[in-house]
Amino acid sequence: MTDFASLGLAKPLLSALAAEGYTKPTPIQAQAIPLVMDGKDVLGIAQTGTGKTAAFALPILHRLAANRRPAPRRGCRCLVLSPTRELATQIAESFRAYGAGMGMTVQVVFGGVKYGPQVRALAGGVDVLVATPGRLIDHINEKVANLSETEIFVLDEADQMLDMGFVVPIRRIAKTLPRVRQNLFFSATMPSEIEKLAAELLNPNPSKVSVTPQATTVEKIEQKVLFIETARKRVLLAELFDDPAMKRVLVFTRTKRGADRVAKGLTTIGIEAASIHGDKSQGQRERALAEFKAGKMRALVATDIAARGIDVDGVTHVIQFELPNVPEAYVHRIGRTARAGAGGAAISLVADDERNLLRDIQKVTRQVIPAWDRRNDKVLAQAQAAMASVEPEKPYKDPRAANGRGGQPGRNKKPAALDASGKAQPDRGQRARHRPAGYEPLAMAAAGEAAPKRKKPRNRNRSNSSGGGGGLSAS
Ligand SMILES: Nc1ncnc2c1ncn2[C@@H]1O[C@H](COP(=O)(O)OP(=O)(O)OP(=O)(O)O)[C@@H](O)[C@H]1O
Ligand SMILES: [Mg+2]
Repeated sequence: MTDFASLGLAKPLLSALAAEGYTKPTPIQAQAIPLVMDGKDVLGIAQTGTGKTAAFALPILHRLAANRRPAPRRGCRCLVLSPTRELATQIAESFRAYGAGMGMTVQVVFGGVKYGPQVRALAGGVDVLVATPGRLIDHINEKVANLSETEIFVLDEADQMLDMGFVVPIRRIAKTLPRVRQNLFFSATMPSEIEKLAAELLNPNPSKVSVTPQATTVEKIEQKVLFIETARKRVLLAELFDDPAMKRVLVFTRTKRGADRVAKGLTTIGIEAASIHGDKSQGQRERALAEFKAGKMRALVATDIAARGIDVDGVTHVIQFELPNVPEAYVHRIGRTARAGAGGAAISLVADDERNLLRDIQKVTRQVIPAWDRRNDKVLAQAQAAMASVEPEKPYKDPRAANGRGGQPGRNKKPAALDASGKAQPDRGQRARHRPAGYEPLAMAAAGEAAPKRKKPRNRNRSNSSGGGGGLSAS
C-alpha cells in the first residue's frame, strides 16, 4: 500500500499531512504526486472530493523547497488559477496548511477587494500565487505583476478555465509565462473538446492521469430526481426541509435573483438560510460561506459560483432547485457533498421544461438517476394554496434600486412575469434558450472578473462550443 512517505515527499510535508490527519494518499494523489515531483506536465482527472488539491500542492511544495531560490520580484514561482475567489482562498489555505514550516510565501489575488494590499504583497515576489484571471490581468496590465519567471502553472477546474468564459484571459495570462514551465491541469470533468484546447497550453506528451472516466459522479452520493411543477418547487423544498437529516444543505439555483428568493422563502418558514452569488459584495460572500461552514445556517442558496471546488465539511444534501444548463455543472454541484469518503444526498427538482437538461446530464454522467413523480400531488397543492394565502408573494424588488444605485446600466431588466399565484416566471424567450433572466455564468460570477458573452448554451452541440463567441467585456 502506498503511503505518503514512500512517495518521497519532504519531511515537513509529511508532518503537515499527519497534522491534517491524512493517513493514506487518495488514488489521484498516489498517481499524480510522483509525476509532478518528476517535473512532468499532468492532466489529472478524478472525482469531486478526492483530494486533487493536495495531488498538485504537495509535489509543488516539494519541488519549490528542493530547489530554493528567491521568488522573482513582482512575480511568483508557482501560479495557480481558479475560477472563483472563494476557491482561490481555499487553495491558498491548503498550500499554507501543507507548507507549514517550509517558509513558503502564499498570496491570493482576486477582484472585489482593494488593489493596494495585493500590489504590496506582489512587490517582493511570492512563492505561490493563487489568482482569479480578471484581477491578475489588471495587475499584469499595470505592470504590478510580471509572470515571466513562473516555473509551475496550475489550472484548477481546468475545463472551466478553458471554456468560453475564461479561455481568452487564460491565453492572455499564459502568453506572459515563460515557454519552459511545468503545467498541471486538474478537474473532475474534462469534455473531449476542452481537452483538445488544453493541449495548446501543455507541453507535448503530458501525463494523463484519469482515476475514473471524466464526469463520473461519486458513488456515495445518493442521487434522485423529483419531477414537479415549477410553481410548486418552493413548497416541495419546504417539505424536504421537514426531514431532520437535512442538516447542512446547499441549494443551487440558476439565477442570482432566484437564489435570493429561495433563501428568503426558507427564512420565512424558519429555516436559517443565506444566499451567495456574484451580485453580493465580497464581504457578504465570505460571511455567508463562513457561517454555513460554521454550521450557523442550515441552508446556503447559491448560484454556480459555489459549484466547483468548494470544500465544506459535512454537507448532508445538495438540492438543485433548477438544473444547470451545462451538464458538467451537475457533477460539480452534487460533488459538494460526499467528500473525502463521506456520504451524502443530491436531490434535483425537475420541471417539465428541464427534461432535456436532465437527459444531457444522464448522458454525460453515463447513468440513469432514479426519479419520482411529484406532479399533481394533492398535498403539495394544498400547501401551495395555504402558503399563498398566508404569504402572498410580492414581485421581487431589487434592493439596489431602493438605495438609489439601481444596479448597473443595462442590468435593470423588466420585472419578471408573474404566474397566477404571483410567483415570478422566467422570461419566456430566454427560457426557451435555457437561459433565464439573471442567469449567472461562472466566469461572470467572479464579479468584476471576466464576463463571457456566450450566445448559446454549450450543452446542445459541443463541437460548436469551442469556437468563437467567447468575447469578454472589461470588468
Ligand atoms: N489523503 C487524504 N486523506 C484524507 N483526507 C484527504 C486526503 N486528501 C484530501 N483530503 C480531504 O478531502 C477533501 C477534498 O479534497 P479536495 O478539495 O482537494 O478535493 P477535489 O478532488 O479537489 O474536489 P473538487 O473536484 O470538488 O474540487 C478535503 O477536505 C481534504 O482535506
Ligand atoms: Mg478541487
